[in-house]
Amino acid sequence: METTEAIHKWRSIRRFKDDPVSMEALRAVLEAGRRAPSWENVQPWHFIVIEDQAMKEKLAKLASGQKQVARAPVVIAVCGDLSAWDKPKNREALMELVEAGVMKVTEEIIDDIILKDPVFYVAENGPAIILARTFEQLGIAYGFMGIEAVNQGLGMCIVGALSNEATGAKQKIYQEIKSDLGMPESMYLLALLTLGKANEAPNPRPRKAFNKIVSREKVGIAF
Ligand SMILES: Cc1cc2nc3c(=O)[nH]c(=O)nc-3n(C[C@H](O)[C@H](O)[C@H](O)COP(=O)(O)O)c2cc1C
Repeated sequence: METTEAIHKWRSIRRFKDDPVSMEALRAVLEAGRRAPSWENVQPWHFIVIEDQAMKEKLAKLASGQKQVARAPVVIAVCGDLSAWDKPKNREALMELVEAGVMKVTEEIIDDIILKDPVFYVAENGPAIILARTFEQLGIAYGFMGIEAVNQGLGMCIVGALSNEATGAKQKIYQEIKSDLGMPESMYLLALLTLGKANEAPNPRPRKAFNKIVSREKVGIAF
């Protein structure tokens, strides 16, 4: 499928057939997430594939009872791994870029300049920005995954309305789920992706008009 066609075909799908998702298609969707770009290549994500019905029902509760979570054949828990922003790990990611020839800087520049500058070193900006940047990276990853899902003939919905560290709601069930899923403290469950063969064919959802959101050179001048 052409990329433009896949983008245009995107709809959030919330009703699924019972058909299983093939391993090949599922792997392609996960691979799309793995290949997503991220800030300094820190890749602060972890994807947990969930097919167990009891766990899907628990996750539906975490998503304020959203039925699609329990009904989808596959749910991917998209986790933000906040430890990826810790200095040693962030440094490791930068060094990999240096070794790959992407960044042409010395170790001294990494240690004395990059990892001390709040513009380049995210953790320098405090926990709120660390969380914001984590969401930013995950959004790119599940954006890629959604396009690949369309390409694989699958329907997907991003479920962000969750009890977790970001919302502070229902911490008892959230902590229980974190433990069930083997997630360390520094890993946050920030989105669920429901995945399966679509059992609905919705019309495109409304979008703001092109010229309302795009300008040429200056806000308000039409492109
Ligand atoms: C970050 C994010 C979180 C979302 N959370 C939910 C959610 O919790 N439940 C839901 O049904 N849809 C959720 N959606 C889907 C949006 O409602 C949907 O993308 C939007 O209405 C546009 O529809 P479309 O995706 O079909 O074009 C979410 C979308 C995004 C990008």
